[in-house]
Amino acid sequence: MELRDGVIGLRPIRQRDQRAWQEASRRNRDWLRRWEATVPPTPPGRITGPRPSYRQMVRYLRHEAAAGRMLPFVLTYKEQLVGQLTVGGITWGSMCSANIGYWIDEAVAGRGIMPTAVALATDHCFHGLGLHRIEVCIRPENGPSRRVVEKLGFRSEGMRPRYLHIDGDWRDHLVYALTAEEVPEGLLRRWRTR
Ligand SMILES: CC(C)(COP(=O)(O)OP(=O)(O)OC[C@H]1O[C@@H](n2cnc3c(N)ncnc32)[C@H](O)[C@@H]1OP(=O)(O)O)[C@@H](O)C(=O)NCCC(=O)NCCS
Repeated sequence: MELRDGVIGLRPIRQRDQRAWQEASRRNRDWLRRWEATVPPTPPGRITGPRPSYRQMVRYLRHEAAAGRMLPFVLTYKEQLVGQLTVGGITWGSMCSANIGYWIDEAVAGRGIMPTAVALATDHCFHGLGLHRIEVCIRPENGPSRRVVEKLGFRSEGMRPRYLHIDGDWRDHLVYALTAEEVPEGLLRRWRTR
């Protein structure tokens, strides 16, 4: 599945993106650290391995995608890999919901690329997959990320205390959400014609 709006694209992450992904991750280490998911210390006696390699990460993401639980995209701008957007936690039944997480290379931040990518992914979730609700959880101190969802018109639903383990500790998160009936015209169209 590939999604595109002009020079902005989303396509499934691949093993052969390794070099570009690692290069972008290395250059953006400081830029991303405060917002990066971490794993809490494990209880005594439970054995875990080291941080997964790129190959292990992609294998896991593609396995989750094959099971229908995730859409792991890389973000491209003028055909270059500039970030990642992951639709995760896809849940059906009476919920029909998913969450979205993302990051972009600092070198191309501030051009409205991520709002466009989130709009593309959200429209695909609503109209391609048939999901009903998309959620984005953001640390209160992450002003740029809050601007992404606020510009797109996601509703603020309040705070989840100590919700996710980010940058080495449990962090409070603001919840933003959108349901399909709130954007009958499509989120990308609404974003483009705002
Ligand atoms: C959050 C993030 C994805 C935004 O992507 P983006 O493509 O830059 O989004 P936008 O262009 O819409 O900019 C969003 C806001 O970032 C800020 N911004 C603009 N240029 C910027 C720059 N060069 N550097 C940093 N922030 C900038 C502005 O506040 C902007 O809001 P505005 O449009 O009202 O001025 C990006 O900042 C990022 O990857 N941050 C680090 C990882 C992260 O926070 N991930 C999300 C975790 S919930």
